[in-house]
Amino acid sequence: IDKYAVFGNPIKHSKSPLIHASFAEQTEQALQYRAVRVELDAFECAVKAFFDRGGRGLNVTVPFKQQAYDLAVQRSVRAERAGAVNTLYLAENGELCGDNTDGIGLVRDMVANLGWSLQGQRMLILGAGGAVRGVLEPLLKERPASLTIVNRTAQRATDLAQEFAELSGDSGLLQGGGYELLEGRQFDLLINASSAGLSGELPDLPGSLLTERSCCYDMIYGAEPTVFMRWAALHAAWAVADGLGMLVEQAAESFYLWRKLRPSTAPVIKHLRQTLT
Ligand code: ATR
Repeated sequence: IDKYAVFGNPIKHSKSPLIHASFAEQTEQALQYRAVRVELDAFECAVKAFFDRGGRGLNVTVPFKQQAYDLAVQRSVRAERAGAVNTLYLAENGELCGDNTDGIGLVRDMVANLGWSLQGQRMLILGAGGAVRGVLEPLLKERPASLTIVNRTAQRATDLAQEFAELSGDSGLLQGGGYELLEGRQFDLLINASSAGLSGELPDLPGSLLTERSCCYDMIYGAEPTVFMRWAALHAAWAVADGLGMLVEQAAESFYLWRKLRPSTAPVIKHLRQTLT
């Protein structure tokens, strides 16, 4: 039986085994997918051992995505831009391939599942960490009117905006800085990628950021609406969503890379939503 796994630390609450089991059942693929807690200093060793023993594919999560990037011999363009790898598999010649499906997962959830249009939109991203770097290239591919990155540490946002402006060759498209950049501005799409919400915090955001057509997406998710979602609802956002769909969509893209089959994600998202407590 073909073996797959997700490597992370911590890993206990990973939904990936459940998601991939659903995909496998739906597409009638015989495979096994496990969640493995890897010691912080043992990632490289664990990856080698997994593939040496015939493992077919790995997902990689916190805190190993950069290490997975370094380990991959071949990398996709989107992994290259993300500077992080969340999917590993072997090429025909046995070389380790690294890809990153996080950004396409976010875009698919917003466009295909939620029906939001991204083209020509004024986008705002809160945060400038690894999660943001991972999604910038696929977001830019959707051709927004502008993309603004704001972060508690302004310099990180400025640097990220500059780096991707150079790559995209359009210097007017991206802007980065601190939260003061938001003064008097309005956005069509707001994406929260700061980890502040994990501890129930929210940067101070003026409600005037939203128009009556603004969509708000939180990359984290939970049984209850996140603080960012509650803020968005309070200020009458047009549409509000959390990151559960992104989680399932990035998994579906990994599944596709491994099995060349696209599972339906809607029933899996629905089922997962019901299991959240
Ligand atoms: P991730 O992989 O989730 O992006 P990260 O690289 O540690 O993790 O980035 C976390 C992001 O959340 C950063 O943008 C961080 O802001 P700083 O760059 O200023 O650290 C942001 N963040 C975390 N806690 C925050 C808080 N209490 N208020 C505002 N931003 C916060």
